[in-house]
Amino acid sequence: MKKYKLGFIGYGNMAKAIVGGILKSEILSKSQIAVSRLSGNEADGLFCTTDNDYIAENCEYLVLAVKPQIFKSIDFSCKADCVISIMAGVDSNFISDKLKMNGKVIRVMPNTPSQIGKGATAIANNSLSKEHNDFCAEIFRSVGEVCFIDEDKFDAVTCVSGSGPAYAYYFVKAMIDGGVANGLDKETAKKLTLDTVIGACEMVKAHPETPLGVLISNVCSKGGTTIEAVNVFEKNQMDKTVIDAMTACRVRSEELRTGK
Ligand SMILES: NC(=O)c1ccc[n+]([C@@H]2O[C@H](COP(=O)([O-])OP(=O)(O)OC[C@H]3O[C@@H](n4cnc5c(N)ncnc54)[C@H](OP(=O)(O)O)[C@@H]3O)[C@@H](O)[C@H]2O)c1
Repeated sequence: MKKYKLGFIGYGNMAKAIVGGILKSEILSKSQIAVSRLSGNEADGLFCTTDNDYIAENCEYLVLAVKPQIFKSIDFSCKADCVISIMAGVDSNFISDKLKMNGKVIRVMPNTPSQIGKGATAIANNSLSKEHNDFCAEIFRSVGEVCFIDEDKFDAVTCVSGSGPAYAYYFVKAMIDGGVANGLDKETAKKLTLDTVIGACEMVKAHPETPLGVLISNVCSKGGTTIEAVNVFEKNQMDKTVIDAMTACRVRSEELRTGK
Protein backbone atom coordinates (compact mmCIF):
# COMPACT_ATOMS: atom_id res chain seq x y z
CA MET A 1 0.00 0.00 0.00
CA LYS A 2 1.50 3.35 -1.10
CA LYS A 3 1.57 6.37 1.18
CA TYR A 4 -0.38 8.54 -1.32
CA LYS A 5 -3.15 7.58 -3.74
CA LEU A 6 -2.12 10.27 -6.22
CA GLY A 7 1.13 12.07 -6.92
CA PHE A 8 1.96 14.86 -9.35
CA ILE A 9 5.31 15.60 -10.94
CA GLY A 10 4.79 19.33 -11.60
CA TYR A 11 2.18 21.51 -9.95
CA GLY A 12 1.47 24.24 -12.50
CA ASN A 13 -1.77 25.48 -14.07
CA MET A 14 -3.10 22.12 -15.28
CA ALA A 15 -2.18 20.15 -12.14
CA LYS A 16 -3.79 22.81 -9.93
CA ALA A 17 -6.98 22.68 -12.02
CA ILE A 18 -7.12 18.88 -11.75
CA VAL A 19 -6.46 18.85 -7.99
CA GLY A 20 -9.12 21.55 -7.58
CA GLY A 21 -11.66 19.31 -9.35
CA ILE A 22 -10.67 16.22 -7.35
CA LEU A 23 -11.04 18.02 -4.02
CA LYS A 24 -14.29 19.75 -5.02
CA SER A 25 -15.78 16.40 -6.11
CA GLU A 26 -14.43 14.79 -2.93
CA ILE A 27 -12.78 11.98 -4.93
CA LEU A 28 -9.76 12.28 -2.63
CA SER A 29 -8.79 14.37 0.37
CA LYS A 30 -5.70 16.59 0.55
CA SER A 31 -3.86 14.02 2.66
CA GLN A 32 -4.09 11.49 -0.22
CA ILE A 33 -2.33 13.75 -2.75
CA ALA A 34 1.35 14.74 -2.92
CA VAL A 35 3.24 16.86 -5.43
CA SER A 36 6.75 17.72 -6.50
CA ARG A 37 7.62 20.98 -8.16
CA LEU A 38 10.83 22.78 -9.09
CA SER A 39 10.49 25.59 -6.56
CA GLY A 40 9.16 23.40 -3.76
CA ASN A 41 6.75 26.29 -3.03
CA GLU A 42 3.69 25.57 -0.91
CA ALA A 43 1.06 23.72 -2.96
CA ASP A 44 -2.41 24.64 -1.65
CA GLY A 45 -1.89 22.64 1.54
CA LEU A 46 -0.83 19.39 -0.20
CA PHE A 47 2.37 17.59 0.75
CA CYS A 48 4.97 19.22 -1.51
CA THR A 49 8.64 18.52 -2.23
CA THR A 50 11.31 19.09 -4.88
CA ASP A 51 12.13 15.36 -4.72
CA ASN A 52 10.58 13.71 -7.81
CA ASP A 53 11.85 10.27 -6.75
CA TYR A 54 10.00 10.52 -3.43
CA ILE A 55 6.67 11.28 -5.15
CA ALA A 56 7.12 8.66 -7.86
CA GLU A 57 8.00 5.99 -5.29
CA ASN A 58 5.23 6.74 -2.80
CA CYS A 59 2.04 7.10 -4.84
CA GLU A 60 -0.31 4.60 -6.43
CA TYR A 61 -1.09 6.81 -9.43
CA LEU A 62 1.45 9.30 -10.76
CA VAL A 63 0.39 12.24 -12.96
CA LEU A 64 3.09 13.71 -15.20
CA ALA A 65 2.26 17.43 -15.31
CA VAL A 66 5.56 19.04 -16.29
CA LYS A 67 6.36 20.46 -19.71
CA PRO A 68 7.44 17.75 -22.19
CA GLN A 69 10.99 19.15 -22.51
CA ILE A 70 11.38 19.04 -18.71
CA PHE A 71 10.22 15.42 -18.58
CA LYS A 72 12.73 14.47 -21.27
CA SER A 73 15.56 16.14 -19.30
CA ILE A 74 14.86 14.71 -15.81
CA ASP A 75 15.34 11.25 -14.34
CA PHE A 76 13.50 9.64 -11.46
CA SER A 77 12.63 6.11 -10.50
CA CYS A 78 8.93 5.29 -10.64
CA LYS A 79 7.19 2.71 -8.49
CA ALA A 80 3.61 3.86 -9.18
CA ASP A 81 1.07 1.24 -10.27
CA CYS A 82 -0.09 3.48 -13.07
CA VAL A 83 1.25 6.65 -14.71
CA ILE A 84 -1.15 9.22 -16.18
CA SER A 85 0.47 11.71 -18.54
CA ILE A 86 -1.14 15.01 -19.52
CA MET A 87 1.97 16.09 -21.48
CA ALA A 88 1.23 17.24 -25.01
CA GLY A 89 3.06 15.36 -27.76
CA VAL A 90 4.77 12.64 -25.70
CA ASP A 91 3.75 9.08 -26.63
CA SER A 92 2.82 6.60 -23.90
CA ASN A 93 5.45 4.16 -25.28
CA PHE A 94 8.19 6.76 -24.78
CA ILE A 95 7.03 7.38 -21.20
CA SER A 96 6.71 3.68 -20.47
CA ASP A 97 10.25 3.00 -21.74
CA LYS A 98 11.78 5.94 -19.88
CA LEU A 99 10.11 5.09 -16.56
CA LYS A 100 10.26 1.29 -17.07
CA MET A 101 6.49 1.08 -16.56
CA ASN A 102 5.92 -1.97 -18.77
CA GLY A 103 3.00 -0.30 -20.56
CA LYS A 104 1.18 0.93 -17.46
CA VAL A 105 0.81 4.46 -18.83
CA ILE A 106 -2.42 6.30 -19.69
CA ARG A 107 -2.07 9.26 -22.01
CA VAL A 108 -4.55 12.06 -21.50
CA MET A 109 -5.14 15.38 -23.25
CA PRO A 110 -7.09 17.89 -21.15
CA ASN A 111 -7.65 21.53 -22.12
CA THR A 112 -7.52 24.86 -20.32
CA PRO A 113 -11.27 25.26 -19.54
CA SER A 114 -10.57 22.45 -17.04
CA GLN A 115 -9.49 25.34 -14.82
CA ILE A 116 -13.18 26.25 -14.39
CA GLY A 117 -14.56 22.69 -14.50
CA LYS A 118 -15.56 22.95 -18.18
CA GLY A 119 -12.75 20.98 -19.79
CA ALA A 120 -12.89 18.54 -22.69
CA THR A 121 -10.48 15.67 -21.98
CA ALA A 122 -9.45 12.84 -24.29
CA ILE A 123 -8.14 9.66 -22.64
CA ALA A 124 -6.20 7.25 -24.84
CA ASN A 125 -7.61 3.74 -25.13
CA ASN A 126 -5.17 1.35 -23.46
CA SER A 127 -4.87 -2.16 -22.13
CA LEU A 128 -4.87 -1.26 -18.43
CA SER A 129 -7.53 -2.57 -16.06
CA LYS A 130 -11.05 -1.16 -15.77
CA GLU A 131 -10.14 -0.03 -12.25
CA HIS A 132 -7.25 2.09 -13.55
CA ASN A 133 -9.30 3.54 -16.39
CA ASP A 134 -12.30 4.27 -14.17
CA PHE A 135 -10.11 6.13 -11.68
CA CYS A 136 -8.45 8.11 -14.47
CA ALA A 137 -11.83 9.02 -16.01
CA GLU A 138 -13.21 9.98 -12.58
CA ILE A 139 -10.34 12.42 -12.07
CA PHE A 140 -10.90 14.18 -15.39
CA ARG A 141 -14.71 14.14 -15.09
CA SER A 142 -14.18 16.28 -12.01
CA VAL A 143 -12.98 19.06 -14.37
CA GLY A 144 -15.34 18.56 -17.32
CA GLU A 145 -16.29 16.07 -20.01
CA VAL A 146 -14.26 12.95 -20.92
CA CYS A 147 -14.03 10.72 -23.98
CA PHE A 148 -11.85 7.68 -24.81
CA ILE A 149 -9.97 7.83 -28.14
CA ASP A 150 -7.18 5.77 -29.76
CA GLU A 151 -3.77 7.27 -29.04
CA ASP A 152 -2.88 7.42 -32.74
CA LYS A 153 -5.59 10.12 -33.03
CA PHE A 154 -4.05 12.38 -30.40
CA ASP A 155 -2.53 14.83 -32.91
CA ALA A 156 -6.08 15.30 -34.22
CA VAL A 157 -7.35 15.66 -30.64
CA THR A 158 -4.73 18.38 -30.11
CA CYS A 159 -6.02 20.34 -33.12
CA VAL A 160 -9.65 20.07 -31.94
CA SER A 161 -9.94 20.24 -28.14
CA GLY A 162 -6.33 20.91 -27.05
CA SER A 163 -5.91 24.08 -29.11
CA GLY A 164 -9.64 24.65 -29.72
CA PRO A 165 -10.21 27.12 -26.87
CA ALA A 166 -7.98 29.61 -28.74
CA TYR A 167 -10.08 29.28 -31.91
CA ALA A 168 -13.25 29.91 -29.90
CA TYR A 169 -11.68 32.97 -28.23
CA TYR A 170 -10.63 34.20 -31.68
CA PHE A 171 -14.18 33.93 -33.04
CA VAL A 172 -15.66 35.49 -29.89
CA LYS A 173 -13.19 38.40 -30.14
CA ALA A 174 -14.10 38.94 -33.81
CA MET A 175 -17.82 38.94 -32.95
CA ILE A 176 -17.28 41.50 -30.18
CA ASP A 177 -15.26 43.66 -32.59
CA GLY A 178 -18.08 43.26 -35.13
CA GLY A 179 -20.64 44.39 -32.54
CA VAL A 180 -18.58 47.48 -31.75
CA ALA A 181 -17.98 48.21 -35.47
CA ASN A 182 -21.74 48.18 -35.92
CA GLY A 183 -22.58 50.58 -33.10
CA LEU A 184 -22.65 48.72 -29.74
CA ASP A 185 -20.48 49.60 -26.77
CA LYS A 186 -17.84 46.96 -26.01
CA GLU A 187 -19.42 45.71 -22.79
CA THR A 188 -22.82 45.16 -24.42
CA ALA A 189 -21.20 43.53 -27.48
CA LYS A 190 -19.25 41.17 -25.19
CA LYS A 191 -22.29 40.18 -23.10
CA LEU A 192 -24.49 39.55 -26.15
CA THR A 193 -21.69 37.62 -27.91
CA LEU A 194 -20.92 35.35 -24.96
CA ASP A 195 -24.59 34.63 -24.20
CA THR A 196 -25.21 33.93 -27.90
CA VAL A 197 -22.23 31.59 -28.35
CA ILE A 198 -22.95 29.69 -25.12
CA GLY A 199 -26.66 29.48 -26.01
CA ALA A 200 -25.89 28.28 -29.54
CA CYS A 201 -23.57 25.53 -28.23
CA GLU A 202 -26.29 24.47 -25.76
CA MET A 203 -28.76 24.33 -28.68
CA VAL A 204 -26.42 22.02 -30.59
CA LYS A 205 -26.13 19.77 -27.53
CA ALA A 206 -29.89 19.84 -26.92
CA HIS A 207 -30.63 18.74 -30.51
CA PRO A 208 -28.05 16.00 -31.18
CA GLU A 209 -30.05 14.59 -34.11
CA THR A 210 -30.35 17.91 -35.95
CA PRO A 211 -27.58 18.50 -38.50
CA LEU A 212 -25.70 21.77 -37.96
CA GLY A 213 -26.60 22.81 -41.52
CA VAL A 214 -30.28 22.65 -40.52
CA LEU A 215 -29.67 24.67 -37.35
CA ILE A 216 -27.92 27.29 -39.51
CA SER A 217 -30.73 27.46 -42.09
CA ASN A 218 -33.33 27.62 -39.33
CA VAL A 219 -31.90 31.05 -38.42
CA CYS A 220 -31.51 32.13 -42.06
CA SER A 221 -34.96 33.07 -43.35
CA LYS A 222 -35.09 33.90 -47.04
CA GLY A 223 -34.58 37.61 -47.71
CA GLY A 224 -33.73 38.11 -44.01
CA THR A 225 -30.69 39.41 -42.19
CA THR A 226 -28.73 36.31 -41.04
CA ILE A 227 -28.40 34.91 -44.55
CA GLU A 228 -26.53 38.08 -45.53
CA ALA A 229 -23.86 37.33 -42.88
CA VAL A 230 -23.68 33.63 -43.76
CA ASN A 231 -23.27 34.52 -47.46
CA VAL A 232 -20.18 36.57 -46.55
CA PHE A 233 -18.78 33.59 -44.57
CA GLU A 234 -19.33 31.35 -47.59
CA LYS A 235 -17.84 33.83 -50.08
CA ASN A 236 -14.72 34.03 -47.91
CA GLN A 237 -14.60 30.25 -47.46
CA MET A 238 -14.61 30.52 -43.69
CA ASP A 239 -15.05 26.76 -43.27
CA LYS A 240 -11.96 26.13 -45.42
CA THR A 241 -9.96 28.65 -43.36
CA VAL A 242 -10.91 26.87 -40.14
CA ILE A 243 -10.10 23.42 -41.55
CA ASP A 244 -6.74 24.65 -42.96
CA ALA A 245 -5.86 26.22 -39.58
CA MET A 246 -6.66 23.00 -37.74
CA THR A 247 -4.62 20.96 -40.22
CA ALA A 248 -1.62 23.27 -39.63
CA CYS A 249 -2.06 22.69 -35.89
CA ARG A 250 -2.26 18.91 -36.28
CA VAL A 251 0.85 18.86 -38.52
CA ARG A 252 2.78 20.90 -35.91
CA SER A 253 1.69 18.47 -33.22
CA GLU A 254 3.09 15.59 -35.33
CA GLU A 255 6.35 17.50 -35.89
CA LEU A 256 6.79 18.16 -32.17
CA ARG A 257 6.01 14.53 -31.32
CA THR A 258 8.41 13.06 -33.86
CA GLY A 259 11.14 15.70 -33.27
CA LYS A 260 11.13 16.86 -36.91
N1 LIG B 1 -2.07 24.32 -20.54
C1 LIG B 1 -2.75 23.58 -21.42
O1 LIG B 1 -3.64 24.01 -22.16
C2 LIG B 1 -2.46 22.13 -21.52
C3 LIG B 1 -3.40 21.30 -22.14
C4 LIG B 1 -3.10 19.95 -22.22
C5 LIG B 1 -1.94 19.47 -21.72
N2 LIG B 1 -1.04 20.32 -21.14
C6 LIG B 1 0.22 19.77 -20.63
O2 LIG B 1 0.24 19.92 -19.24
C7 LIG B 1 1.60 19.98 -18.80
C8 LIG B 1 1.71 21.09 -17.78
O3 LIG B 1 1.32 22.31 -18.36
P1 LIG B 1 1.06 23.59 -17.44
O4 LIG B 1 0.44 24.60 -18.33
O5 LIG B 1 0.36 23.19 -16.18
O6 LIG B 1 2.59 24.00 -17.07
P2 LIG B 1 3.14 25.01 -15.98
O7 LIG B 1 2.02 25.85 -15.41
O8 LIG B 1 4.31 25.71 -16.58
O9 LIG B 1 3.66 24.04 -14.79
C9 LIG B 1 4.81 23.28 -14.92
C10 LIG B 1 5.16 22.71 -13.56
O10 LIG B 1 6.34 21.93 -13.70
C11 LIG B 1 7.14 22.15 -12.52
N3 LIG B 1 8.52 21.78 -12.82
C12 LIG B 1 9.40 22.37 -13.65
N4 LIG B 1 10.58 21.69 -13.64
C13 LIG B 1 10.41 20.65 -12.78
C14 LIG B 1 11.25 19.59 -12.33
N5 LIG B 1 12.51 19.46 -12.77
N6 LIG B 1 10.75 18.71 -11.44
C15 LIG B 1 9.46 18.81 -10.98
N7 LIG B 1 8.62 19.79 -11.39
C16 LIG B 1 9.11 20.71 -12.25
C17 LIG B 1 6.96 23.62 -12.21
O11 LIG B 1 7.36 23.87 -10.86
P3 LIG B 1 7.15 25.32 -10.17
O12 LIG B 1 5.67 25.47 -10.00
O13 LIG B 1 7.85 25.21 -8.88
O14 LIG B 1 7.75 26.31 -11.12
C18 LIG B 1 5.45 23.74 -12.45
O15 LIG B 1 4.75 23.41 -11.29
C19 LIG B 1 2.45 20.19 -20.06
O16 LIG B 1 3.13 19.01 -20.36
C20 LIG B 1 1.45 20.50 -21.14
O17 LIG B 1 1.86 19.96 -22.39
C21 LIG B 1 -1.29 21.62 -21.00
